[in-house]
Amino acid sequence: MKSVIIGTGIGVPKNVVKNDALAKIMETSDEWIRTRSGVVERRYADPGEGSAELGMIAARQAMEAAGVTTSDIDAVIFATMTPNYYFPGNGPLVQAGMGFPEIPTYDIRQQCSGFLYALDLADTFIQSRKYKRLLVIGADVHTPLMPWHRGWDITIGREDREVTPEEFAFNTRYRDRTVLFGDGAGAVVVEASENGERGFVAAKLFTNGSNIGALYMRGGSHRRPWVTPEQVESGDLIPDMEGREVFKAAVSKMPEAVRAVCAAANVDLKDIDMLLIHQANLRIIEGVTKQLAFAAEKVPHNIERYGNTTAGTLPILFHECMQDGRIKPGMLVCFTALGSGLHWGAALYRT
Ligand code: ACO
Repeated sequence: MKSVIIGTGIGVPKNVVKNDALAKIMETSDEWIRTRSGVVERRYADPGEGSAELGMIAARQAMEAAGVTTSDIDAVIFATMTPNYYFPGNGPLVQAGMGFPEIPTYDIRQQCSGFLYALDLADTFIQSRKYKRLLVIGADVHTPLMPWHRGWDITIGREDREVTPEEFAFNTRYRDRTVLFGDGAGAVVVEASENGERGFVAAKLFTNGSNIGALYMRGGSHRRPWVTPEQVESGDLIPDMEGREVFKAAVSKMPEAVRAVCAAANVDLKDIDMLLIHQANLRIIEGVTKQLAFAAEKVPHNIERYGNTTAGTLPILFHECMQDGRIKPGMLVCFTALGSGLHWGAALYRT
């Protein structure tokens, strides 16, 4: 039994925000952002547009490509660290919003590794014969995590003014992380197939929570109350990131995971035709490529156009490579990701 991806889709917001637009609201530059991260532009969702909405756009496209309707899907898995609501997760929003029958929906997080975990979960369900066809969505909308009321509306053309010196200084405090992220979603339909070589091969997933502080967001059930007005005002709810720590972990753990999944599947590194790396930073992508001694043509990237869309990066990149023919039938594709948790891993998939 193989788990085969029979359709892909993406949902990205219409607002393209170039680096220069960010330089209007904080002390940064196109040059710094390009050279340190590779990001040239990203997309920001409009107010009212959350990860559920972008996820549904991607899901509709994936289902249309797969030639399936809502009655053909047995379950939905939605990976996001930015659900529309604190609870419930996005699963019920997708169920009602897309008119699914009352099927089970699973909400998972796992941040930048969310899609990898969701794909492995879908394969596990298919292997267990619990479900035959699943919709898997990875989506994140980061804009609300930024100090939005301090002039960020300017970036999407909803406000036409100069930020005050105080707003400029406040935004600059968070420039190391805010410039990296964008909003976006990808989705795939995964189906059980009894014949052929196509499909999911193996995954190796890892977690190490010993340094949550490297990348996390405050606020939560251990607080009384879980969030205060002062926290919002002081910027305490803007995600915290030790950039260099995460960078170091990314360039060592992702190659390890790729080697581990190859060993588990008895596959040689050189058998991998395409390596799809989580799009967090072009320098991380280059570092992983170098560690594994891969040719650059085997490692596509689109971080320059979207930034880091967290759970969205891998399905968006996979969709684009399938669409433009960089990924062809019969290729062995390796997905790898690392993100907050830390969670990381790699998966092999034969197209
Ligand atoms: N514009 C201009 N200058 C900046 C900016 C900016 N946007 N951000 C930081 N700087 C400055 C710093 O203040 C510092 O100045 P100083 O030397 O005067 O103190 C200087 O640039 C260098 O800063 P570093 O932090 O050393 O820069 P580095 O080269 O490490 O790049 C970055 C920072 C891009 C954040 C990098 O460390 C990185 O990509 N880390 C990994 C991020 C990541 O992958 N996150 C995980 C995914 S997210 C998830 O899982 C949800």
